[in-house]
Amino acid sequence: MSAEVEKIVMPPVPALVVAIDGPSGSGKGTIAHRLATLLGFQVLDSGSLYRLLALAAQQHGVSFDNEAALEVLAAHLDVQFQQGSNGDAVIILEGEQVTNEIRTEEMGRSASLVAALPAVRAALLQRQHAFREQPGLVADGRDMGTVVFPDACLKFFLTATAEARAERRYRQLLEKGFSASLPALVDDIRARDDRDINRAVAPLKPADDAIVLDSTHLGIDDVMARVRREVEQIAVLNRHLKVS
Ligand code: C5P
Repeated sequence: MSAEVEKIVMPPVPALVVAIDGPSGSGKGTIAHRLATLLGFQVLDSGSLYRLLALAAQQHGVSFDNEAALEVLAAHLDVQFQQGSNGDAVIILEGEQVTNEIRTEEMGRSASLVAALPAVRAALLQRQHAFREQPGLVADGRDMGTVVFPDACLKFFLTATAEARAERRYRQLLEKGFSASLPALVDDIRARDDRDINRAVAPLKPADDAIVLDSTHLGIDDVMARVRREVEQIAVLNRHLKVS
């Protein structure tokens, strides 16, 4: 009797994910981009999806508490992420360039309203998973390590006091030529934190296995150095690190 050799088909290995979560203004967007460049990975800026949905809702006259209509809008969101000539992301919504339009404080506030709705989060989940491509992904958001990519091989939770984060935002806005009020920004950040932390679904919180980095007294280069040291400890990530 000849022994039958069974052919074992191995499932494809999912791409590596580094999750970077934290409240607004904690520096996670900058760190995510720098780390992605170092590793040669894609980036997912998940907050931009909630901002895009809020903008689409505004343009279609859908109110921010109409969960059923927002769910449909989220499922059919016509958005493209392109790369501009300087390497920066260019975001197109329904054929229109909206890269800067979605970055306003008002759009951040509106995003946090639509992001609190369970049907909206469920409708955007698949779209976020689609960013997971070889060789890997750096995912930036509020629930990357807890809900969207719980199997991420490394998770960070960046934080800082509301005052420190408002101050950073204030300086960024002035640099870009916008006017801003620091006390209003502190209030805004506190209100957004409150909504993100206390919502029923996917609240903002560190995953149990996340490395928490408080950047209140650290510059962005110090935070990046800490992140890099952690990445070096994970063999599957370390081999992607570009020498710099
Ligand atoms: O990160 P960003 O400030 O662009 O996010 C805008 C808003 O989108 C957040 O205040 C939060 O309410 C929501 N958001 C979320 N989950 C994510 C990313 C962003 O709920 N993963």
